[in-house]
Amino acid sequence: MRSYKIAAMGGDGIGPEVVEAGVQVLKTCAERDGGFTLDVQDFDWGSDYYRTHGVMMPADGAEQLRQFDAILFGAVGAPDIPDHITLWGLRLSICQPLDQYANVRPTRILPGITSPLRHVSGPELDWVIVRENSEGEYSGVGGRVHKGLPIEVAQDVSVMTRAGVQRIIRYAFRLAQSRPRKLLTVVTKSNAQRHAMVMWDEIAAEVAQEFPDVTWDKMLVDAMTMRMVMKPQTLDTIVATNLHADILSDLAAALAGSLGIAPTANINPERDAPSMFEPIHGSAFDITGKGIANPVATFWTAAMMLEHLGEKPAADRLMRAVERVTADPALHTPDLGGKATTRQVTDAVCEALRRAND
Ligand SMILES: NC(=O)c1ccc[n+]([C@@H]2O[C@H](COP(=O)([O-])OP(=O)(O)OC[C@H]3O[C@@H](n4cnc5c(N)ncnc54)[C@H](O)[C@@H]3O)[C@@H](O)[C@H]2O)c1
Repeated sequence: MRSYKIAAMGGDGIGPEVVEAGVQVLKTCAERDGGFTLDVQDFDWGSDYYRTHGVMMPADGAEQLRQFDAILFGAVGAPDIPDHITLWGLRLSICQPLDQYANVRPTRILPGITSPLRHVSGPELDWVIVRENSEGEYSGVGGRVHKGLPIEVAQDVSVMTRAGVQRIIRYAFRLAQSRPRKLLTVVTKSNAQRHAMVMWDEIAAEVAQEFPDVTWDKMLVDAMTMRMVMKPQTLDTIVATNLHADILSDLAAALAGSLGIAPTANINPERDAPSMFEPIHGSAFDITGKGIANPVATFWTAAMMLEHLGEKPAADRLMRAVERVTADPALHTPDLGGKATTRQVTDAVCEALRRAND
């Protein structure tokens, strides 16, 4: 029997609600499969931990996580603590030391869900966005001096390294190559940012030589937003910098119906540290504690986790169960225009898993 150690970290807001649902579904997957077990350990790190201890997680937090096979993460962010403290104190303090440099964000329109795009019925929108997750605009380099004075200066420096760009572009080409259309779009802004983004473009052209079977093109990030809306069928795999992909993937999630269904995986491709799986959404203060958070994004990322662990049949079975549930409008949460609760959707996915005969 294969066994995996999973760290479950709900974090803030609706994070604990969707992670609890995700753990229930993952355990049902393991029972249904019969070939593996999951040993889940809960972590209470996040804003409550900060209010008690003055830090979002212990100083050796990332080291503690190294002994796990994967991490299931909810969300971070609280109304009374500045976002840069919560984000850097927890999520980025895990992603960076564990070198989860590839942030992978699949987007497609699940059965039963309507895209806000009038001309899209479903198959026209099937993308994976690869976000550089270790440097760029979120490198953390910068500073602020003379706070509050008229001469105040603040800088965030976008740092790109040849090694960092090469590895993410190569990852994206490999992913594009593994998908049927073998199509990659490299997002850039080298018209305005004339140093690092020009290097980004040059490295893309170099790495492309290694993948003659992948068709690729280059797109300025501003034009990319238009292409995503007007010609979604022309896109498949997309690679962009930390900031660009952060923004484009929220647009992608909205075009696929709701932020509540969009998953992401922070992957350490070399597997020398655990990868972290999470919904794209944040802590959603407006619906916290109401029991109506859409858990589908967390189920989808749980399926990505199973696939990463090597449990592809269980991952596929989970996605089929999720799709069976989204196909029924009676099981849509309010973000999708329905009335279902987190619990009802979770129970329905577990039931679909138990009934699955494939
Ligand atoms: N990865 C993360 O942990 C992450 C990501 C984004 C934002 N945040 C943080 O979350 C906090 C709130 O940010 P925000 O309001 O910009 O974004 P958000 O994703 O929390 O919410 C945006 C909107 O989408 C809705 N929504 C989000 N997830 C949903 C779900 N599962 N089901 C139904 N509706 C859902 C919310 O109700 C809200 O109306 C901030 O502190 C922000 O920094 C964290």
